[in-house]
Amino acid sequence: MSGKKKMVIVGGNPLSGEVHVSGGKNTSVAVIPATLLCDEPCTIENLPDIDDVRALVDILRSLGATVDYEPGVHMVVDPTTADGFQVGYRNAQRLRASYYLIGALLGRRRHAEVAFPGGCKIGTRPIDQHLKGFNALGAMTEERGGTIIADAEELLGNDVFFDMVTVGGTINVMLAACKAEGTTVLHNAAKEPHIVDLANFLNSMGANVRGAGTDLIRIKGKPYLHGSTYAVIPDQIETGTLMIAAAATHGDVNITGCIPTHMEALSAKLLEMGVRVTDSDDSIRVRMSGSHRAVNIKTQVYPGFPTDLQQPMSALLTTAHGTSIIQETIFESRFKHMDELIRMGAQIRVMDRTAIVEGVPSLYGAPVTATDLRAGAALLVAGLMAKGETEIYEAEYIDRGYEHIESKLRSLGANIRRELVEA
Ligand code: EPU
Repeated sequence: MSGKKKMVIVGGNPLSGEVHVSGGKNTSVAVIPATLLCDEPCTIENLPDIDDVRALVDILRSLGATVDYEPGVHMVVDPTTADGFQVGYRNAQRLRASYYLIGALLGRRRHAEVAFPGGCKIGTRPIDQHLKGFNALGAMTEERGGTIIADAEELLGNDVFFDMVTVGGTINVMLAACKAEGTTVLHNAAKEPHIVDLANFLNSMGANVRGAGTDLIRIKGKPYLHGSTYAVIPDQIETGTLMIAAAATHGDVNITGCIPTHMEALSAKLLEMGVRVTDSDDSIRVRMSGSHRAVNIKTQVYPGFPTDLQQPMSALLTTAHGTSIIQETIFESRFKHMDELIRMGAQIRVMDRTAIVEGVPSLYGAPVTATDLRAGAALLVAGLMAKGETEIYEAEYIDRGYEHIESKLRSLGANIRRELVEA
């Protein structure tokens, strides 16, 4: 036995009932490094218990911070003991967001040595815009042996013009700028909900971040940030994945604890397909009966259709009536799941960053392999809709971003389990 597990799904059960959304992955992985900017202990609530969060706990501890993490309750970080500035290869490779340690450590210590991040292999994913922002604030940056070294005698606020909209770049420079002298203005900033959430967390510690959620963010640096207790927002991509899974299984699911306004691009597409979507203040009910229509998808920065939902959505489109065209504009290699969907009976042609999906009556269970987190989510949706048994290998990818996903799906009636992979 290898110790690795596969996910086994017997498809065909319509999902039904109520399910609660966990805290956001991509907001948590920014908020946790941001605690290093604080000069007092902080308490973070509503964190999802996922691999990326556990990796960040190890990283903060390796830097000398005292971390009391009680999954499902809170994380208390005392950064006052953190005197480290290095994040080595093994820890940095555990997640993409390890690059936020560069911005956080620059802000805290004016010096960071962080190995190149890991994360999903969905494109080349350069970080030139992050470095450009740090340089604009007065930091020298260089790459040595796979490690980014950033150093600043002093950090001075400045204008930063991003060449493209980058979520990671916006967050990273925002972190360093909170402790710079003077005002930093980020132009062409990303507008994702987790950028606003991070700004709210920073402001709760006494930072001065204005304009988050627009493309112009102003940050007035502060020498001292005080402790705070903060709950992160619900996960927009988990919400979307559950909405898609409900539609894909012809189910009736009420998704609670979410923010419906964050989901407008997906809700609009599902409505266009003939799915019934009804919002309340903090829940979304998704119902589907009969067949659904094909639609075209083009991924865009927020508030456009999110690239993170392109993969699960493409699973749903495999059985839509008609032809759907999917264009992936954010990442170069985010179609690796398509070959696996084809193994399950889907009819898909991929040409560069466009996929043409001809709807088929149904998918069939097959052994498939997840190549990244959202590819795993796509295969999960496909497995739930397919006739027969689907085995998802490399299912650990799914654990990087979805908290307790099997028990949540089981509570909605899915037939899903993990089994050890035979050696
Ligand atoms: N880009 C550059 N240079 C840079 C930064 C980005 O060329 O310095 C390019 C990227 O290669 C990409 C595009 O700009 O083509 C957008 O990249 P962005 O920086 O916005 O993405 P990211 O920070 O690497 C985050 C999320 C992703 C999510 C994207 C887009 C985290 C840890 N990751 O990635 O989440 O897909 O924003 O919304 O927050 C996931 O959750 O599965 C995931 C991959």
